[in-house]
Amino acid sequence: MKQKWDERYGEEGFAYGKEPNEFFREWLPKFTPGAILMPADGEGRNGVFAAQQGWQVTSFDQSDAGKTKALQLAAERQVSLNYIVGNLEDLQFEKASFDAMGLIYAHFSGDKKTQFHQQLDTYLKPGGVIIFEAFSKKHLGFKVANPAVGGPQQSDDLYSIEEIATDFGNYDILLLQEEEILLNEGRFHIGKGAVVRFVGRKK
Ligand SMILES: C[S@@+](CC[C@H](N)C(=O)[O-])C[C@H]1O[C@@H](n2cnc3c(N)ncnc32)[C@H](O)[C@@H]1O
Repeated sequence: MKQKWDERYGEEGFAYGKEPNEFFREWLPKFTPGAILMPADGEGRNGVFAAQQGWQVTSFDQSDAGKTKALQLAAERQVSLNYIVGNLEDLQFEKASFDAMGLIYAHFSGDKKTQFHQQLDTYLKPGGVIIFEAFSKKHLGFKVANPAVGGPQQSDDLYSIEEIATDFGNYDILLLQEEEILLNEGRFHIGKGAVVRFVGRKK
């Protein structure tokens, strides 16, 4: 999988654009800036936005090419990111050290996603917030109709409201819903899709 992402991010241009995800753009400014963890941050569009909003950003992704692009974007926008390259399986961060986490299209493989969510939860402080958007199981139909909208091929790699409510059962839910939305993010998220959106505060 790392190879796929290095190839995609090695191409010219930004695969999902340079602008942040709309939901992340809407919700992040509602919280007081502090330390934020950006798992699977890819080419850094969301991490860079967080830095522009005054957050101290730690991003990670398995892709070296993603890091190169993210640092390029950060330099363009005159902000800095602490960007770590690695697979979440091999990474450790200090427990309860982040005030927020942005999980934006962090599509982990189906057999690992719950375990990864549990791991990531340990890095957030009590009172910390998660902002999450990713494709829902219903999205498969949209992807078949329009492959340009992107997203995983396997139902197991997609999310349901119930899975998120269970994985983050120790959170107060500020918002949790499935929505059909129109995406216009770079070259790989174009068209109508179905997503789960979640904002939660750790108890
Ligand atoms: C659809 S892209 C989203 C990138 C970025 N969050 C965005 O919205 O622009 C999914 C990203 O997840 C990363 N990823 C998937 N599994 C990972 C893992 N186990 N460890 C680190 N990165 C992972 C991939 O390398 C890829 O960059």
